[in-house]
Amino acid sequence: MTEGIIDIHSHILPGVDDGSRSLEESLELLEMAYRQGVRGIIATPHYSRSRDNRHHLPLTEKVRSAFLEKHPDFEIWPGQETFFHEELPERLEEGQALTLAGSRYVLMEMDTGRDYSYILRAMRSLVQYGYRPILAHIERFPALRDDGRLDELVQAGCLLQMNFDSLKGNFFTRDRWCRAKVLEGRVHVLGSDMHRLDFRPPAVDEAMKWLEKALSEEELLRITRINPLHIIHNEKTE
Ligand SMILES: [Fe+2]
Repeated sequence: MTEGIIDIHSHILPGVDDGSRSLEESLELLEMAYRQGVRGIIATPHYSRSRDNRHHLPLTEKVRSAFLEKHPDFEIWPGQETFFHEELPERLEEGQALTLAGSRYVLMEMDTGRDYSYILRAMRSLVQYGYRPILAHIERFPALRDDGRLDELVQAGCLLQMNFDSLKGNFFTRDRWCRAKVLEGRVHVLGSDMHRLDFRPPAVDEAMKWLEKALSEEELLRITRINPLHIIHNEKTE
């Protein structure tokens, strides 16, 4: 795992959310990601309030050992895509909700229709407990498209994640805002958010075609490998 993309957002654990349905599907999704240049993945199933999320840890190890048998140059870490609610900091402290790879970084989702003040307050509440929230797929929040809001979130201690597949598309279909934010250097980290073979499979390579042309090598590495590794090692991101 000395080079390659590290993907911090994926639904590759079988049978726990709307992602992979079986170990076979998980391994096939990982194989697709591998072919697209990915060499490390954090498994981030959706958080469930009604179930004990700690069972994700042995399940991650099961998928990991099965895939690494074939690809020893790969790594898989445990994590979660955690839905924001008022008790979340306590759930994290108890280990009932999982951070990314045991670090203080937490991948956060919330209703995308939330207004800006709610999003900012939610992120601040995690920072107050000593966590580093990473807001998942920022492009889905209409409230974040106004100038200055991403910067304010970052100043509050939040990191910004965008999905690879939001960067693909042609002149007519592409989302100009997404590409502009990447070009401005405002995005900390990209993720595949892969779910199933027939529903949101990994689409990293299509985005990489544009990214490799549009960004310097250094900037591309920052958002696809360096920052993911900083997150996994619980270090400061760039
Ligand atoms: Fe997701």
